[in-house]
Amino acid sequence: MQWRKALKDMKPYTPGKSIEDVKKMYGLTDVVKLASNENPYGTVPAVQDYFENMSINFEVYPDGYAGILRTKMAEKLGVAENRLIFGSGSDELIVIIARALLGPGTNTITATPTFPQYAHHAEIEGAEVKEIPLVNGHHDLNGFYQAIDADTSVIWLCSPNNPTGTLINQEDLIGFLEKVPENILVVIDEAYFEYIVDPNYVNTVDLIDQFQNVIVLRTFSKAYGLAAFRVGYGIGHPTIITNLDIVRSPFNITSTSLQLAEIALEDDSFITMCRKLNREQMERFKEFAEVNNLHIFDSEANFLLIEVPMSATDATEKLLGQGFIVRSGDALGVPGYIRVTIGTESQNDGFLEAFSALIEGAGLEK
Ligand SMILES: Cc1ncc(COP(=O)(O)O)c(C=O)c1O
Repeated sequence: MQWRKALKDMKPYTPGKSIEDVKKMYGLTDVVKLASNENPYGTVPAVQDYFENMSINFEVYPDGYAGILRTKMAEKLGVAENRLIFGSGSDELIVIIARALLGPGTNTITATPTFPQYAHHAEIEGAEVKEIPLVNGHHDLNGFYQAIDADTSVIWLCSPNNPTGTLINQEDLIGFLEKVPENILVVIDEAYFEYIVDPNYVNTVDLIDQFQNVIVLRTFSKAYGLAAFRVGYGIGHPTIITNLDIVRSPFNITSTSLQLAEIALEDDSFITMCRKLNREQMERFKEFAEVNNLHIFDSEANFLLIEVPMSATDATEKLLGQGFIVRSGDALGVPGYIRVTIGTESQNDGFLEAFSALIEGAGLEK
């Protein structure tokens, strides 16, 4: 892979030992940490009260290694701990990847439309961005392959893709990975992984041994409902992880966020429930689209891209007037569509009613 030259002789930040580590190593009960210039008086009492049941030392830096979460996640995924990297949301991992691999003289390949942060950070780093249009809402992996040249450093695949919700055809994905040169990092962004129900889905974590140039990105922001706390993670070969760790800032996830992710990770039943309810509610949107003759993309995520019988911006504004905030396709590169997050049953009752009124107002025939 084409890591920036500066990374060659560098190492990731090595965190000092935590109080817990030293207690364990030396069998001590009392350990005083005077190594990181933290505040010996703790924090502001009102802050402490706010989180009174959390066993966090407020004045102590977070565990930059995310040790507890790492062990739990490694066990859950059945991978070694050195195959994981944690970020302040998967957003931060995108920044880290761009910073570690992209720059003037390199190029990167993404779909369009897709999650805009890939192109955004590639541009900031000075790389050329090659955008391959979706075909019927799907990644055109042949187009991606054709776009590869000697300067290509990173390929971004978003599956399920934001904003279409479409899953990349899994057979095509494997065929593509077999062809991509090993010195190009392939990022598979699976922010909506937990919502996938397609029986053909191939667990990408199982691919990282075979394809050592692949990193899979996932997040606690969506199905785990922890967007406010910013925890994402990447799974890949240790060489990838080590190089990205050089770029990662040492204490990138707060102690509170780490603890909440550790707790959330235990609750598979919540994820199962969300996946099931999401599917049930998605069916309502599909029926609605069919009855009203509106095109809708096949989604494996918790949102849908649905056609509107007027300009997307007008539809978005009218729905806003009814109290529903959706994303206009005009802003997402898909004019004539809106992207709607699938809400709860009662939220969807209201939304579909407002959407019906919109259609009637536009005089669209049923
Ligand atoms: C495809 C995709 N990737 C990554 C993210 C970033 O998620 P987070 O930084 O909250 O983990 C999002 C958020 O909308 C997304 O849709």
